[in-house]
Amino acid sequence: MSTLARCDRTPAWQELGRHFASGAARFDLRQAFDADAKRFERFSQQAPNVFADLSKNLIDARAEELLFALARQCGLQARIDAMFAGERINATEDRAVMHFLLRAPKGQQGPGTELAVVHETLDAMLAYAERIRGDHTITDVVNIGIGGSDLGPQMAVLALDEFVAPGKHFHFVSNVDGHELDGVLQGLAPEHTLFLIASKTFTTAETMANARSAKRWFEQSGGTDIAGHFAALTTNVEAAREFGISTTFGFWDWVGGRYSMWSAIGLPIALAIGAEGFRAFLAGAHAMDEHFRSTPLEQNLPVRLGLLDVWYRNFHRFTSRSIAPYHSGLKRLPAYLQQLEMESNGKQVDLDGQLLPYGTSPVLWGEPGTNGQHAYFQMLHQGTDVVPLEFLAVRDATHDLPGHHPKLLANALAQAQALMQGKKDEGGHRNFSGNRPSTFFVLERLTPESLGAFIAMYEHRVFTSGALWGINSFDQWGVELGKVLAKDIEPRLSSGDVAGLDASTAGLLQRLRQR
Ligand code: F6P
Repeated sequence: MSTLARCDRTPAWQELGRHFASGAARFDLRQAFDADAKRFERFSQQAPNVFADLSKNLIDARAEELLFALARQCGLQARIDAMFAGERINATEDRAVMHFLLRAPKGQQGPGTELAVVHETLDAMLAYAERIRGDHTITDVVNIGIGGSDLGPQMAVLALDEFVAPGKHFHFVSNVDGHELDGVLQGLAPEHTLFLIASKTFTTAETMANARSAKRWFEQSGGTDIAGHFAALTTNVEAAREFGISTTFGFWDWVGGRYSMWSAIGLPIALAIGAEGFRAFLAGAHAMDEHFRSTPLEQNLPVRLGLLDVWYRNFHRFTSRSIAPYHSGLKRLPAYLQQLEMESNGKQVDLDGQLLPYGTSPVLWGEPGTNGQHAYFQMLHQGTDVVPLEFLAVRDATHDLPGHHPKLLANALAQAQALMQGKKDEGGHRNFSGNRPSTFFVLERLTPESLGAFIAMYEHRVFTSGALWGINSFDQWGVELGKVLAKDIEPRLSSGDVAGLDASTAGLLQRLRQR
């Protein structure tokens, strides 16, 4: 097992603190560009399928150099190697972390014998996807899952709409709120519908409630062939069979829920874009895996991003980061990345369970551009808090409506420019202080391959900051307490028993029971 030095116990951390206090805190982007004609070249780079411009960030060469030193002193490379070697780096659950293996090509050297099983399952799943794509009686696919069993497939199916086979409609039901399932079921016919029950554990309360209701609806509406109209995507194939689903696609405990869309959980994506498209999606992610695994830290894009995150969170003390994808197909990307980053790095103890003296995951949030510009960008330009913003622009559009795409791209560029440059106005109200940081990502086209690469880049960036913070980015104990309490409260809603509840919960429960 690899050992990590906690970031705050390294000489580089102390040095970063000194560098920050002695001037970096007052870093000015405009002066930095004036002083260095090569700043754009120095702070931008092409990684597989993703171009990133980091030059409009509050960082100078010295800070970046010290951050690389910090990564070395913390043993980042050893941690990366440990993941790729299949070590059980998810120590609190005693599991390896090997989502990268789901996108490794056949025959590649990997830890253990898992790769052969991965490809066997992938082939079976893709053959099934192709069969359903050719089956014109199935017009509607309903994915029932939540969190990692929903957000990734939903985000990707929307993003890759251009590649989606005509004649199939995709629906995603995650919430236990019956309004959602009810709304989707209206207008569906059992003989034309395929339900995918997606749950790593096959125990998640919301998913099980929705799956039971979907099965009941199917049977009550005259459906008989459960095997033909229900498939389960799960590591708990036994539980799926007990539930009555015989068509199953499995995956393994070394795939975290929020890292699972590359596994059987990605079946909706494969149904939407086909086997070839899904393989391209995996290939894009794999190219980023290789980049992350073997590129020196200085040219390693996920590493540079993760280090910038540490710099912002722990030295500038920014508490949030916003992402603005300038592509309407990426409207679910912020929600997807929220789970990826905040469920991974929203932790307050180190690997030994000791309380951390520094901040970890920022709040990640966002909306597609240009919409956000007419909502909350006001605060990004003139608010009292600095929120680093991430732009994601796609060079080529796939529609042919004249004029739209240049307008969209011009807006993305202009916002990044305005945030940095600002504008003086003595009156105050129209003053833009500027010097507000942003990162700008460019994809040439939004394809399965480029989307796969972008998401893998983000996964590894989250890995990097998590490794430096010395936390376990792969567990999620913080979601458990609420689940347990909900189980206790549910029967009280019908019985009215408030014994042992705090006064607020008791009062609210009674209020919700009042007619
Ligand atoms: O409650 C959080 C969580 O465990 C996530 O980590 C996970 O993605 C989601 O619930 C769904 O879990 P499952 O796929 O097991 O239904």
